[in-house]
Amino acid sequence: MSEGQAVTTTKEECWVPNILAFACNWCSYAGADLAGVSRLQYPPTVKILRVMCSSRVEPSFILKALKDGADGVLIAGCHIGDCHYIDGNKNAEVRINNTKKALAKLGLDKRLRLEWISASEGLRFSEVIKEFTDEIKKLGQNPVKEPQLKTPESRLWRAHLLLVNRRLMFKEVKLNE
Ligand code: FES
Repeated sequence: MSEGQAVTTTKEECWVPNILAFACNWCSYAGADLAGVSRLQYPPTVKILRVMCSSRVEPSFILKALKDGADGVLIAGCHIGDCHYIDGNKNAEVRINNTKKALAKLGLDKRLRLEWISASEGLRFSEVIKEFTDEIKKLGQNPVKEPQLKTPESRLWRAHLLLVNRRLMFKEVKLNE
């Protein structure tokens, strides 16, 4: 570039993905904490929400996050066999797989990710965030989030999301009967 030439950046180039991570208190949140204490580098694309167990995350939380502006949602919990509530993470796996299947119909399934990260895996936590950020960058912005919500097409997406949530809740009620 010659001297004095203006640098232009498009909106897309300035865009930074917005990832919401639900991390279980006992393992993954501690893993994230370890990544921070160890000064491991990962992109500032993630906001972490602490939950007591990965099974606490309901499909409606995921759909609401996508509807309200997240480009990607990560659920992180203890490795299988390590859940502090015995089978919480196994239940979470079933639930997330069902949610993924429902989201696949809307082309949003790749925006949801489930990972097992222990308290001692700070490095793994940082790598998962890097990988997921790259994946979301390739996918681009979440089509259901603001400001596109004003268009008739995105209103339709929102209606779909509500329907998906109802179906998933109904499925879980039936499973628990
Ligand atoms: S307590 Fe960590 S997944 Fe259940």
